[in-house]
Amino acid sequence: MKKDTDNWAEVEATSRAALPDSILDYIEACKGDPEFKSQLISVLHKVQGHFGFLGEEQLNAVAQLMQIPTADVTGVATFYHFFRLEPQGRFMIRVCMGTACYVKGANDILEKLQKELGIDVGETSKDGLFSLEVSRCLGTCGLAPVVMVGDEIHGGLTPDQVPALLEEYIGKAHEAESVAS
Ligand code: FES
Repeated sequence: MKKDTDNWAEVEATSRAALPDSILDYIEACKGDPEFKSQLISVLHKVQGHFGFLGEEQLNAVAQLMQIPTADVTGVATFYHFFRLEPQGRFMIRVCMGTACYVKGANDILEKLQKELGIDVGETSKDGLFSLEVSRCLGTCGLAPVVMVGDEIHGGLTPDQVPALLEEYIGKAHEAESVAS
């Protein structure tokens, strides 16, 4: 939607309503930059930082306010693995793929997690409990291979231990639910 079209005011209002003031201000501030459109990635980072993921509504809003075709914005959002297009699960699982972990079988752990959860990297399990990411060195190479669940480090894992690890967190989620009810 170009600014000079008839219902631009309406489109602009809808777009502005989809984003918090801090991001609207940031987009506004970027407009002085001669390379304005190159700011798209940092704008998307801010959107993800606020919402935890990049929803369709937010991607459309960014496209309209930055006057970049929606397909291009979506293309950038899907190209980079650090952008998430769906809400994050209750527990974020990060599999370290740094060198020490990689040589100690991180890829096998990752494959087992993908199989057990039925999801790929960047996705969230159907029950909303787990999201899966890969990460660079988590700084605990002595424990390789390392998986981080939420803010907890699990080292020396084997693929066989993955189901029990997931069960542990499923149990934690159920515990929290029963305390809350
Ligand atoms: S390489 Fe995995 S913790 Fe350093």
